[in-house]
Amino acid sequence: MSTHSIAVIAGDGIGKEVVPAAITCLERIAGIHGLNLAFTYFDWGSDYYGRNGRMMPADGLDQLARHDAIFLGAVGSPEVPDTESLWGLLIPIRREFQQYINLRPVRTLDGVTSPLASDKPIDILIVRENNEGEYSEVGGRMYRGLPHETAVQETIFTRLGVSRAAHFAASLAASRQGRLTSATKSNGIIHTMPFWDEVIEETARQYPGVTVTHELVDALAAHLVLKPWTLDVIVASNLLGDILSDLGSAVTGSIGVAPSANLNPEGDFPSLFEPVHGSAPDIAGKGLANPVGQIWSGAMMLEHLGHPDAAAHLQSAFESALRDGHSTRDVGGTSSTSEFTAAVLTAIDAHAPVTA
Ligand code: NAD
Ligand code: IPM
Ligand code: MN
Repeated sequence: MSTHSIAVIAGDGIGKEVVPAAITCLERIAGIHGLNLAFTYFDWGSDYYGRNGRMMPADGLDQLARHDAIFLGAVGSPEVPDTESLWGLLIPIRREFQQYINLRPVRTLDGVTSPLASDKPIDILIVRENNEGEYSEVGGRMYRGLPHETAVQETIFTRLGVSRAAHFAASLAASRQGRLTSATKSNGIIHTMPFWDEVIEETARQYPGVTVTHELVDALAAHLVLKPWTLDVIVASNLLGDILSDLGSAVTGSIGVAPSANLNPEGDFPSLFEPVHGSAPDIAGKGLANPVGQIWSGAMMLEHLGHPDAAAHLQSAFESALRDGHSTRDVGGTSSTSEFTAAVLTAIDAHAPVTA
């Protein structure tokens, strides 16, 4: 039996609802496919902050490092400043564990209605650089409260950082339609962007069959809304990829369905799997949260752990629950989080391979 130790951080808000939902599905899948998923639960997040003045213990990263993967819900609470909650948990995990790729699929699903007039299928992979760029630690606020109060944050791109994101994205494009779109803003305004373009260009050139288009991000945002079906793989910096991935999920129907994998491709550290959405304080605790993004992130985790059959089984189960008309309110349905999860469990059993 294949055993994997998985650190689970449900975190805040709807993380506490969608993570248990996805774990139930993962446990059912594990039972069918003979996997031993050993979950260790960490109660870190904003409530922990309220009790301890920090988002996780001082040795939190050491505790996580001992696991094969991390499964996270969301962080962020109206009670705790976002600077504390994000720099105290999510961002250090992404950085210390060199999760430099944030892979965010954007795909239409049967049963989830896109707000676009067209019903052409959309299948895009966004590769978001996840360790540097606009999310740098260089900068700060000065002269608080004074008329000349100033806020500064440097954007940092390194050749290593940009080229490894480019390699990952170009090799994905090579395995798909060969079309790589790089989100840029190099029309003379943002000084770091010509460097981004050059490194993307010279890296992608090493992949025969891959063509790179540099699209200004404002035009690319419009492209994502007007003709998303013409896009294949998008590579983007940290901030631009963050924005484009929320837009992409909205274009396919709801942010509630979007998954993500924060990957350390070398496997030196655990990778982290979480939905694209946040803690959604406006609907937290009401049973309204769509668990699809979290469940799909679980399927990406199974794939990453080397179990493509189990991943495909979980994927087909939630897709068939949606196709059969089960869905939460954000995508026009009436199911609660637990009712939708029950429909996925039924579909898991119905789709179980006879020999698994
Ligand atoms: P959000 O993604 O939490 O919510 C945006 C909107 O989408 C809300 O109206 C919400 O109700 C809806 N929504 C989100 N997920 C949904 C789901 N699964 N089902 C149904 N509806 C869903 O973004 P926000 O409101 O801007 O941020 C709230 C908090 O979450 C902030 O503190 C923010 O910093 C944090 N955040 C955390 C992460 C993360 O942990 N990776 C990601 C994004 C935002
Ligand atoms: C995401 C979130 C985070 C990000 C925030 C909460 C720091 O929006 O995972 O998309 O910007 O990376
Ligand atoms: Mn985001």
